[in-house]
Amino acid sequence: MNIPVKKIFKSVQQKKGYQIVLLLSIVVLYSAYKVFDDHPRVWSSYRGNSETNAYSPLKEINKSNVQNLEVAWQFGPQPTAAPAAGGRFGGQASQSNPIVIDGVMYSILSRKVYAVNSTTGEQVWEFDPAANALTGAVAMRGVCYWEKGDDKRILTTVGPNLIAINAKTGELIKTFGVDGKVDMRVGLIPGADANAIRDVSSSSPGVVCGDLIIMGSRVDENYGASPGHIRAYNTITGKLTWTFHTIPHPGEYGYETWPKDAWKEFGGVNDWAGLSVDKKRNMVFIATGGTSYDFYGVDRPGSNLFADCVVALDARTGKRKWHFQTIHHDLWDWDLTSPPNLITITKNGRKIDAVAQLSKSGFIFVLDRVTGKSLFPIKETPVPKSDIPGEKTWPTQPIPVLPKSFSRQAITEADISNFSQAAHDSSVRLFRKLRYEGLFTPPSVKGTFHSPGSNGGADWGGGSFDPTTNIMYIKSNEAPEIIRMQKIENRVTNQSDFEIGKTIYTNYCIGCHGASKGGDEFNYPSLINIQKKLTDEQIIAKIKVGGGKMPGFADAIKGKEAAILAYLTGVDNKTYVTAQSGNAPAVPGQKVKYTNVVAYQALRDMNRKPFITPPWGTLSAVNLATGKYIFKVTAGNEPNFQKPGEPETGSTGNAGAVATAGGIVFLGGGADHKLRAYDSKTGKVIWETTLPGGQNATPSVYQGTDGREYVAVSIGSDKDHPSGSIITFRLKK
Ligand code: HEC
Repeated sequence: MNIPVKKIFKSVQQKKGYQIVLLLSIVVLYSAYKVFDDHPRVWSSYRGNSETNAYSPLKEINKSNVQNLEVAWQFGPQPTAAPAAGGRFGGQASQSNPIVIDGVMYSILSRKVYAVNSTTGEQVWEFDPAANALTGAVAMRGVCYWEKGDDKRILTTVGPNLIAINAKTGELIKTFGVDGKVDMRVGLIPGADANAIRDVSSSSPGVVCGDLIIMGSRVDENYGASPGHIRAYNTITGKLTWTFHTIPHPGEYGYETWPKDAWKEFGGVNDWAGLSVDKKRNMVFIATGGTSYDFYGVDRPGSNLFADCVVALDARTGKRKWHFQTIHHDLWDWDLTSPPNLITITKNGRKIDAVAQLSKSGFIFVLDRVTGKSLFPIKETPVPKSDIPGEKTWPTQPIPVLPKSFSRQAITEADISNFSQAAHDSSVRLFRKLRYEGLFTPPSVKGTFHSPGSNGGADWGGGSFDPTTNIMYIKSNEAPEIIRMQKIENRVTNQSDFEIGKTIYTNYCIGCHGASKGGDEFNYPSLINIQKKLTDEQIIAKIKVGGGKMPGFADAIKGKEAAILAYLTGVDNKTYVTAQSGNAPAVPGQKVKYTNVVAYQALRDMNRKPFITPPWGTLSAVNLATGKYIFKVTAGNEPNFQKPGEPETGSTGNAGAVATAGGIVFLGGGADHKLRAYDSKTGKVIWETTLPGGQNATPSVYQGTDGREYVAVSIGSDKDHPSGSIITFRLKK
């Protein structure tokens, strides 16, 4: 028993009626043990426990007293303080889901790792990667915990390096890996020099099973990306123990679902959203994304296993037990965005261990945990064919009969927003020009309407599952996009630096920073007048290394630094022709490629307002035993786009919900910066508060050493609150 029960005694003995409080605490503690039996530590891993259900059995905070929540403490640098070096803001610090072990909270904030007293908010230690000669982004969504006897470790990543930190002191453990680091690029591509391997890092934490930490990764989504193989490392030594090839090598299962050299040529197929573990069965579950490049599959005919798959592996060996592919030959960037939820459904008195996988397209795949067979019928449904030359669209896609989609999938003209007659008419004209035959309409040169878009449906906030009711709570986003494909011209003759830079920009940067270079604040910064802010050296360094959601592009700009600078700073000096561009021949034998020139951007009307009618964010409650919806309500608000007198609009946002045994679902993450408590039976908002900064993280719910229930969220890392902080709530006394 590691929860300091003694402390609880001490704090309650001084009060009247302590017997009752004590009894309640014991009940609460007992129920905590029951659910977190393998982690009697309250919120011991990312999204609560290794089954990643984002559910808390605590019930001190309930429907009748939630009105009495108040701020317990806020931890972080001063709200207006500059973020840690190396980033515009604190580096998406607000995405972190803190873990709590034995009264200490561990989290990521402003590109550093912090240990904080979970009851008082006092700092225990700070780990600054820069002070340990580590560069690159820290896994921003959280950390892992492992212990054996007295050896207690926090495992996380900085850039390509997996590191272990002493959980008591905050010091780098130098005996882990080479001088305290495990370079995750090593061994990723047979025979390749690790330093030459492009962009491998981690945005979400791995999972711990026994003495192994099993890691997914974040790689980029462009041509030439690194593969996203799953690796297991020894938590004590850092030694690579096994690898599961998400793009199979010759002789491996699934190899024939690709062209023969695909394993050498393609990247992506990574699990960037996190994994889950069934410790009883020694099984690890992964959820993969699509192949890089996201929107073009001419070079990779086939169903492309294990892209967009839930895969069950033996956690000790990495051997595949089963897989379920949610999209064949993905052309839509519909990565699986959340770790598989390991759930136990009670049906007709029988308990069924299952896996629930949410998708960007709005589906919930409910699979038997042991066999991978769907618990509801799934129809392989014919889908439209691509008209990109050579593209072999997969003829069918799997569509569950139940549960129905939690996101609006079919958009009609009636769904087009109407902020003004002119804006509406122009949107309708655009909509009519686009290719759109419903879900799975393939990318096209004329432009395909893509809904739910690459940021639609469920995101890494994932689902929260209440085992006592079979109900899954899901935040969903409604954000259509356009996929407009353009052929990349490889012939580079007599081009100015500006023109070469423009080609690079169109191929690699436009998806995030936009055709106008204006970005999409606060996700993607504007690069207009970047020269006023950064020196040439700083710009180049940023492009090479990346940061936050930006991958590094060292390869793409190699030898073309002057060109990308010319384009970014807007000096089109046509007379200044570089040697490599001036007489460059057409590249013989170079494969034809296409790029989506408007990738990853929510579609807007002519005034940059949302293209479709609200709600843009919803919270659904679905019974996974019956496949039926209990409720679907608007979640969040976008005050800038709410019309006077109209209801709240719902908001896009990546944060996930957390249900508790107190009958509450906590969810925030909208543009209105509000954290809300919903009645878990009806979806009615029963409490809300405005946070001092944007929230982009799933809450953590835990018990403090004082026996009281706390709700913690990471906030900030935006313009209002650049350095970010963690804020916690508890009931007023
Ligand atoms: C996947 C999205 C994405 C792509 C693709 C991308 N960037 Fe970025 N970029 C970002 C994000 C996010 C940041 C902010 C990073 C941070 O806070 O550290 C950024 C920051 C920058 C900055 C620094 C801006 C500032 O205000 O400090 C520059 C310069 C930049 N990007 C240039 C490029 C160029 C050039 C390319 C193409 C070669 C590119 N980016 C591709 C997302 C992207």
